[in-house]
Amino acid sequence: MRVLVMPDYRTLSKAAAELFTKALRIKPNLKAGLPTGNTPLGMYEELVRSHREDHLDFSELLTFNLDEYLGLPAAHPESYHTYMSRHLFDQVNVSAANLHIPDGSPGTDPDAESARYEKSIQDAGGIDLLIVGIGANAHIAFNEPGAAFDSRTRRVDLAPETIRNAQQHFGSEQAPTEAITMGMGTILEARRIVLLASGESKAHAVERALHGPVTTSVPASALQMHPNVIAIVDETAGGK
Ligand code: PGA
Repeated sequence: MRVLVMPDYRTLSKAAAELFTKALRIKPNLKAGLPTGNTPLGMYEELVRSHREDHLDFSELLTFNLDEYLGLPAAHPESYHTYMSRHLFDQVNVSAANLHIPDGSPGTDPDAESARYEKSIQDAGGIDLLIVGIGANAHIAFNEPGAAFDSRTRRVDLAPETIRNAQQHFGSEQAPTEAITMGMGTILEARRIVLLASGESKAHAVERALHGPVTTSVPASALQMHPNVIAIVDETAGGK
């Protein structure tokens, strides 16, 4: 695994966006796995800027988001559908038919949806470049500690700390407790993986993921088994 330690969040975001931009320029119909959360916000800002200023073309890009809350309407302000529209999709020239996010809206059958999602990834020929953050508990996507390394897209219960973290965005409304997430096996099949981590709260997880034993109790440690991973961390997240 290559590790890039950047001085701060801004330079981390620029490095991640540059890597993505390069991949998209080489392969306009890139198949990308995309994250949500706080960490990638700076990268998305940079990508929007590249579209506006440097005419970066997203028209043939295929995207597969890592996960979505279960039980939230897609139009809910805190859904990952809304997040992606707001921070990327509404601001660049993506084609709506090329965008994939698990459907977690009420009434969805999570097993059928998960199978459908896996098939859409297979039908696209797999993911070229997958970008992922890391939780303080070392989860990746919503694969919480204990998730099997060969798990596929499926319904999962969120860890108590993950729900607590999400609660800050939901105010008085109860944050979701379940999600549909790509599995560890799904993620590990991506041809290239970029792990992003920023801030002191991630330092322990980054240390365990990069240098600790490979174990399902540290989901991100599975990345050590992948032949083409680059971790881009800032100095605080990389402090250990
Ligand atoms: P964050 O979440 O980017 O909001 O810190 C990362 C994650 O939990 O995967």
